[in-house]
Amino acid sequence: MENVSEETRRILRETEHMFWSRQSEVTGRMYEILFEKYPQTRDLFEDFKPHQPNVFATALMAHMLSLDDPDTLLSFRVGIARKHVKAGVREEHYPMMADALITAMREMLGDRMDEKTIAAWEAWYQFLACLLIERERDHYQGTRRLFPE
Ligand code: HEM
Repeated sequence: MENVSEETRRILRETEHMFWSRQSEVTGRMYEILFEKYPQTRDLFEDFKPHQPNVFATALMAHMLSLDDPDTLLSFRVGIARKHVKAGVREEHYPMMADALITAMREMLGDRMDEKTIAAWEAWYQFLACLLIERERDHYQGTRRLFPE
């Protein structure tokens, strides 16, 4: 999986501060949109914990900080993938989350989100999603186990 382009990275670096300044509000709204628009995703969360928006935002922030070297967060992603597999998260759920995230960003950051910025955040989410999906797919297909015997 190829990392995002130089141009995308430049836009991300220029715009990330506006996301971090309101991260929990944005990710909190993201889950509201997700559950409203795609109610099937609500059932994946056995008990939706109030800190989930923060946990999600932290994972995004950590990956933004390691944009140039995502391998440093491999064990972090294995932990996330384990939780996802346990909960039954599948490849088809990722675009739903992308839609909810971008909609929440548009709603809350409004004019500051021009089309180029949105495209950069979408490309980056897609990259991160692919890293998780690959690992989870391997597990579902039985080619790589995420849980010890
Ligand atoms: C790039 C996309 C995503 C990131 C960065 C991400 C990140 C995370 C993180 C950090 C956790 C907590 C892991 C832990 O507690 O150790 C988590 C758990 C979880 N995520 Fe995701 N996630 C993503 C996509 C999705 C999608 C698409 C869904 C389904 C719609 C989903 C559903 C869940 C569920 C059900 C849990 C378990 C929550 C629990 O412990 O009760 N995630 N995710």
